[in-house]
Amino acid sequence: MANLCNVDGQISSEADARIPVLDRGFLFGDSIYEVVRTHDGVPLTWSEHWNRLQASAASLAMELDLSEIDVARRVAETMAQADHGDSYVRIIVTRGTGDAPNIDVAYANSPPRWVLMVRPLQLAVGKPVHLAMVDRLRNDRRALDPATKSGNYLNNVLGLAEAKASGATDCIMLNHDGSVTEASTSNLFARIDGVWCTPPLNAGILAGITRSMLLELLPKAGERVEERHLTGNDLASAEEIFLSSTLRDIGPVTHLNGRALHPNQPNGVGGESTTRLIPAFGEFIERRLAERDGPYWRNLLGQ
Ligand SMILES: Cc1ncc(COP(=O)(O)O)c(C=O)c1O
Repeated sequence: MANLCNVDGQISSEADARIPVLDRGFLFGDSIYEVVRTHDGVPLTWSEHWNRLQASAASLAMELDLSEIDVARRVAETMAQADHGDSYVRIIVTRGTGDAPNIDVAYANSPPRWVLMVRPLQLAVGKPVHLAMVDRLRNDRRALDPATKSGNYLNNVLGLAEAKASGATDCIMLNHDGSVTEASTSNLFARIDGVWCTPPLNAGILAGITRSMLLELLPKAGERVEERHLTGNDLASAEEIFLSSTLRDIGPVTHLNGRALHPNQPNGVGGESTTRLIPAFGEFIERRLAERDGPYWRNLLGQ
């Protein structure tokens, strides 16, 4: 089954999809995006992703010309043609085709370009992570705020490459104040003296949707949780660490800077609390889909 793309309403195979070379997303990373996963045709946390897309657009002064219903219909139509079952859906909006390869937004006179990519879902739930603290800093909030999910991911591309060069599978980046931020495409949780800590939004991170679901779930699962600034030393002394994202849910960190965090556990297994949380989060998501996301999506599509 082919991966499908929907470019401004036209569905084609991913291989045949085309955008003009003057597209500002291509030229400058002048774009925003979301990655959504679906279960039985229902996108998980659709409204949170839609709201974050709006917030990203607002932070770049990009005016979106499609409504939530328009986009939901395009997503549903593309998924129906792809017929993949559970899907990965990437929603990209660029500032459209410019009049010239000039960064000035005065040259952005066409409507935004909407690209959907629909692929079979490949989840990495519970996949072990080897984390490396890299020298590269996370973008400063005053320069390009990591809270904006823009298509300009070079900071993350280079952070990840640095981690991989050291034999790790993902990076953790500090901000200019030496505070822990996030991994290349995931947020971070560290258990310190029995409390699950995650950097606050003002550390300069993406407001991960998985992160906020975990902030809701953890106390219900009998865990203490708090948003707290963390240093590299805090991480080094953490009892357990995991990453969170839409495509991995919870990814247990088994190694930090090459050191095994749980040397007495069988290979690939995180700490005890993390191991308990992985299935608990799976159940949390199933309930959410059944009780909130399913009815919301069907209502949006008028079904
Ligand atoms: C930089 C960054 N941080 C965190 C996340 C996790 O966000 P979410 O849980 O909404 O997928 C992502 C996801 O792509 C990301 O790119």
